Amino acid sequence: MFKEFPEGFLWGGATAANQLEGGFNLGGKGLSTSDMIPYIPKEERDGDNSVHITSEQYNQALNDPTNGNYPKRWGVDFYHRYKEDIALFGEMGFKSFRLSISWPRIFPNGDDLTPNEEGLAFYDAVFDELLKYNIEPVVTLSHYEMPVALIERYNGWTDRRLVDFFVKYAETVFNRYKNKVKYWLTFNEINAIALAPYNAGGLLHDRHENMEQSIYQALHHQFIASALTVKACREIIPGAQIGCMLARLETYPETCNPEDVLKTLQAEQMNFFYTDVQVRGKYPNYMNRFFKENGISLHLEPGDEEILLENTVDFISFSYYMSLVESAGPQGERAPGNLFSGLKNPYLESSDWGWQIDPIGLRVTLNKLYDRYQVPLFVVENGLGAIDTINENGQIEDDYRIDYLRKHFIQMREAIEDGVEVMGYTSWGCIDIISVSTSEVSKRYGFIYVDVDDLGQGTFERSKKKSFNWYKEVIKSNGTNL
Ligand code: BG6
Repeated sequence: MFKEFPEGFLWGGATAANQLEGGFNLGGKGLSTSDMIPYIPKEERDGDNSVHITSEQYNQALNDPTNGNYPKRWGVDFYHRYKEDIALFGEMGFKSFRLSISWPRIFPNGDDLTPNEEGLAFYDAVFDELLKYNIEPVVTLSHYEMPVALIERYNGWTDRRLVDFFVKYAETVFNRYKNKVKYWLTFNEINAIALAPYNAGGLLHDRHENMEQSIYQALHHQFIASALTVKACREIIPGAQIGCMLARLETYPETCNPEDVLKTLQAEQMNFFYTDVQVRGKYPNYMNRFFKENGISLHLEPGDEEILLENTVDFISFSYYMSLVESAGPQGERAPGNLFSGLKNPYLESSDWGWQIDPIGLRVTLNKLYDRYQVPLFVVENGLGAIDTINENGQIEDDYRIDYLRKHFIQMREAIEDGVEVMGYTSWGCIDIISVSTSEVSKRYGFIYVDVDDLGQGTFERSKKKSFNWYKEVIKSNGTNL
């Protein structure tokens, strides 16, 4: 028997519209940036990262109205099967379900004068279904997608006008769902924009003369949009809680050489920069040096500093998949992640995709974030992407996934014992979905298996993996039975 988790702990699962829903051209939805990303087989791709599309790929996709080979266009068909999926989440006893609203489903072009009623009605139905099973929706407003029209007309987030469009979208959904949704997140992994400017900011390489400059200007606009969204949320839904979302990169020095320690501190600052702005309400001083040394000059409008200071978030949500290692010396073999990578850590095992598994790192990171900010934390992404095979009895015995999760839960419980306030845990891809980095579905995270392959062939039927009943028991026992 393990120690019980706090009462009301929000156990659940997490997804994103563009990786889950499908129905890319249904219900009046506009094209999304994620609809443009093709599936490229492993042998043909350069590394495991398909979020950096070229302008040629983008233009080709823009003119292709079919499903093509764009897996995020078909997802796993949650658009038609949400009732069945939510019933399975209910059976597992989920207390929460993290999903995102697809911005182009609500405002097909991003700058439309009125929202798309069919899109709004779809999420009404989804939230009603969740509430039927007493599952709290945890809603991300922007998870790696935006209407492509905002690239065509404004060149993405470098244009200040996107702030107004985003806030209008946020206010629209707050007003519509104020009686249904209490937990909101603004931008998924807001730090991703530095490495995935297209995915996270709608920035295409050949349309920006100085990409570094464009990235940080776009990010500033997202910070402002996020802060104004926090303000709107408080005004429209009293009692709601709204958080930021960070891809947390717990980083260790390779040795105790002070050079390595300094390099690690700097890497950590580049990760904390985002939460420093969103939780403390201002740009940290160390960024002045970074901007100066990299020739970046941000344009702030009068009042921006006040907006950031007055509208900080209620809690921090974050993803945690692995820890990284930094060295100031010669760079050895690297271990990948989806966007970020670090040096190989000889003490850790890796997933099928080479991601280094570090449950203790979760405890370290929870403590570090809580020490620094003293606000509640929500682990909204964590999990194991693996190749699942169906055995001769027609079962998926995913003991490796159970083992991964169990070890992380033990460390999360230890962090709570250390005094960290943790609101909940939503396991990434609780049902198999399309991978953000490789656009594969064969990189599976779920408790629920979906019968579809990387080319979109299959019945899309759902079945339970061994981890399904295990997680159900974890939730039922509130973490005492792992
Ligand atoms: C996070 C993203 O970075 O990692 C998710 O927020 C993503 O959208 C998840 O799916 C896992 O990454 P991948 O590349 O395995 O899908």
